[in-house]
Amino acid sequence: METVLSGIRPTGNLHLGNYFGALRNFIDMQNEHNCFFFIADYHSLTTHPTPHDLHGNVRQILVEYLAAGLDPEKSTLYVQSDVPEVIELYLFLNMNAYVGELERCTSFKDKIRQQPENVNAGLLTYPTLMAADILIHRATKVPVGKDQEQHLEMARTFGNRFNRLYNCNYFPEPQAFNFGKELIKIPGLNGSGKMGKSEGEGNAIFLADEPEAIRKKVMKAVTDAGPTVPNQAKPEAIQNIFQLMRVVSAPETLSYFEEQYNSCHIRYGDMKKQLAQDMIAFTEPIRERIKAISADEAYVSRAARIGREKARESASKTIREVREIIGFKSF
Ligand code: TRP
Repeated sequence: METVLSGIRPTGNLHLGNYFGALRNFIDMQNEHNCFFFIADYHSLTTHPTPHDLHGNVRQILVEYLAAGLDPEKSTLYVQSDVPEVIELYLFLNMNAYVGELERCTSFKDKIRQQPENVNAGLLTYPTLMAADILIHRATKVPVGKDQEQHLEMARTFGNRFNRLYNCNYFPEPQAFNFGKELIKIPGLNGSGKMGKSEGEGNAIFLADEPEAIRKKVMKAVTDAGPTVPNQAKPEAIQNIFQLMRVVSAPETLSYFEEQYNSCHIRYGDMKKQLAQDMIAFTEPIRERIKAISADEAYVSRAARIGREKARESASKTIREVREIIGFKSF
């Protein structure tokens, strides 16, 4: 059994890309591993120092995680800021994190370009905070996308450095976790690239979207004038709507439209109507649970409390041991 950990910044509702990319796998993993899933609200301050509704954003992700099937009894589902031990480890790790290596981090260089008016120390030490998230539970597996691999590498560096400096073998090396299930790439609706909230209005289908909103977005999805030669290769925008259909529709539906495409009879309007209907049906159980859980304040706060208690139990053990290793003693 591995200790698995994953964090998500509370910057928007979850969409189908999140669901097929990671969430679906998290739900299976809960039965096999010791899982920690948390909402990285401290991290969000590095880019959004004065959030409009921090609590609401965190709550929404928590509700959606619960609705999708993360189980607060099986896993440790918590909010980063509920675990102040993380900050103490962040401080210890920062003492041995070098400015040069932090400045060379790709994500820091990107951020300097994106927000030149706010190059704060939190941005520079973003990787130390992330390492603290991982090391505080001595996690061994971290499911991350390509964009987070360098951060994970730094977590290994900081953990190994700690072990070397204090002459111990305390932190295990966290490795990237590759899901057993193949990763399904979910394209967006605007013709190119993957589904994402920052890829433009209407590109993503959110788990909480109402049927009417789904229908509108799908009907606006980018297509083209249609094939003119039988069995013609599909351009990206068309591949995308077929890929979306592959994940939410019945196989017969997909093959029906494949045939229509190959024989040049396809009517994208009909295809999109069908796709919208199947997406609405697919997301319905999650959407209904989001509404029910969101309305149940007692359930949400109970879930958060269970998560906080389990996370703090694990984190305070680490902090106790780390203090002892470094040499802090109480009088
Ligand atoms: N940096 C991650 C992201 O932007 C979020 C995150 C914070 C995280 N702490 C983590 C991910 C620890 C995995 C482990 O997506």
